[in-house]
Amino acid sequence: SIPVVMDVDTGVDDACALLLAALHPQLRLVAVSCVGGNTDVDQVTRNTLAVLEIAGRTDVPVARGAQRPLIEHAVHARHVHGDDGMGDLGWARTDREPDARHAVELLRDVLTTAEEPITLVPTAPMTNIALLVRTYPEALRGIGRIVFMGGAARQGNATASAEFNVFHDPEATAIVLDAAAEQGIPVTMYGLDVFYGPAVTRAEAAALAASGQGDAARLAGELVGFQCERFGSEQATIGDAGAVCAVIDPDGISTTPLPVRVELAGSWSRGRTIVDTRDWSGDREHDPAGRADAVVDVALEVDARRYADLWLRTVGGTPA
Ligand code: BDR
Ligand code: CA
Repeated sequence: SIPVVMDVDTGVDDACALLLAALHPQLRLVAVSCVGGNTDVDQVTRNTLAVLEIAGRTDVPVARGAQRPLIEHAVHARHVHGDDGMGDLGWARTDREPDARHAVELLRDVLTTAEEPITLVPTAPMTNIALLVRTYPEALRGIGRIVFMGGAARQGNATASAEFNVFHDPEATAIVLDAAAEQGIPVTMYGLDVFYGPAVTRAEAAALAASGQGDAARLAGELVGFQCERFGSEQATIGDAGAVCAVIDPDGISTTPLPVRVELAGSWSRGRTIVDTRDWSGDREHDPAGRADAVVDVALEVDARRYADLWLRTVGGTPA
């Protein structure tokens, strides 16, 4: 099995991602760190603990991390995820306490003691990971690869230019991509170019919720049902869960290695991931600081049905 650490801002679709990571037999979910994003970090932590409890995974340590971005003010996404971040469906309750360590300390401990390289899957603003990079750079040696949800080669969602996770903390993403490039850690960007592809219909969500396969299936079905309701659509993306699918079944996406920079200035483009898709090889723009390009495997296409099915089967209790 593949050892995985997730960093989340749970979040309806982070919950979908956590359920998949917690329940798929090919993955070994080792720890989860929480960060402010879709909602504030205390609520994110509560939601994450609740989801893992529902998945029967109280063995997985969950730590509270950064409450706000490095420089920006926090902007939450309650209009997308509900007031409690999980669709206000009554699931965001738990008696469990988070790990006593700060998320950065938990990440450090897990990564420095790991017997095998860990796959890190951030589906949230990368504040915690950037703080880890700056505080305990040696911990990066424990990371085998990073598969993150964030960014967009084409259009954004938080703004026309920028995807929410990167927009929320652009400096953090820049720090992490630079550090990964320096350390030679392979990075896959599961961004908006594929994010909306894998989707579950209202009927599939209802069937899942009513399947009698236990609370995880019910929660999963209700979360997607909530998204369909909120956006008045017949289907909803499994969102962040697609990044976990990309770890389980990498052949479901096609990726291209491309230089990626994060726009840290810009009036209308701050937080944009500038993905250099030019097909010529010549002199590129030089970074005044002399840093090398971070070349990232950017997911540009996804087999949407394949990932939706992978998710449906796993949270429905019959993983393939
Ligand atoms: C990302 O932002 C959040 O709303 C989702 O959880 C996802 O991680 C999409 O831009
Ligand atoms: Ca998220």
